[in-house]
Amino acid sequence: MTAQLIDGNALSRQLRAQVAQRTQALKTRGITPGLAVGLVGENPASQVYVRNKVKACEDVGFSSVLEKYDASLTEEQLLARVAALNNDPSIHGILVQLPLPKHIDDHKVIEAISPLKDVDGFHVASAGALMVGEVGFKACTPYGCMKMLESIGMQDLRGKHAVVIGRSNIVGKPMAMMLLAANATVTVCHSGTADLAAMTRQADIVVAAVGKRNVLTASMVKPGAVVIDVGMNRNDEGKLCGDVDFEGVKEVAGWITPVPGGVGPMTITMLLVNTLEAAERLQV
Ligand code: GUN
Repeated sequence: MTAQLIDGNALSRQLRAQVAQRTQALKTRGITPGLAVGLVGENPASQVYVRNKVKACEDVGFSSVLEKYDASLTEEQLLARVAALNNDPSIHGILVQLPLPKHIDDHKVIEAISPLKDVDGFHVASAGALMVGEVGFKACTPYGCMKMLESIGMQDLRGKHAVVIGRSNIVGKPMAMMLLAANATVTVCHSGTADLAAMTRQADIVVAAVGKRNVLTASMVKPGAVVIDVGMNRNDEGKLCGDVDFEGVKEVAGWITPVPGGVGPMTITMLLVNTLEAAERLQV
């Protein structure tokens, strides 16, 4: 192995310790950061994610409210719950776990969350703020990827070419905006890209966020490049794996994030950071 690992668990521990400290400081002023997490239905993966988020809140001293609803909950009922949480002063962050059942419009629900409590960073106002460089919540997964780059000394990406594979609203697009804000030259690749390997071979930084195994293999990577793997997939043996062929790419890359133990824990860490900031902003 030539690549060095970017350890998302270790970095998360550091950042969460800082969040816990700042939380204590807020508590001395009578404020406990509060996150409300809504889960509709029984999606097994969502149940695990939501449990991890609530546990992470408890570990840093937040209060968290998990609201579990039956899959038959109507869109109107969910919107009414969001409205109530928007008006609840003990709640600083609201997260509705996606995907929602088919009869509920994700977009409508996200837009109903107050931008002041949109700790997922999914609201159009948050996406717009990121685009024009205004204050707003940043989507947690790309924000975590930026923190991972910072942790290896890559805060200013002037002169670097970053290639993002994937164009989702949750990861690919905000990732591209954050890399651009850090002065990288950014290329966004997707299913309509003619020659993905030709793009990734030019990249100093590759972020793979497609949700498909082996999207990035060793021959597609420039020696020494930084490879960030956002994927969460299962291989044929049922083992968790990313979008990157880790075994091959680690022999070529300079830095690489593992799956598990890479971007995953950072996503939750940045949710904590956003929720803390939502509570702190009340102070000013
Ligand atoms: N589903 C998968 N990832 C996420 C996330 O980060 N936030 C929400 N709300 N739903 C998700």
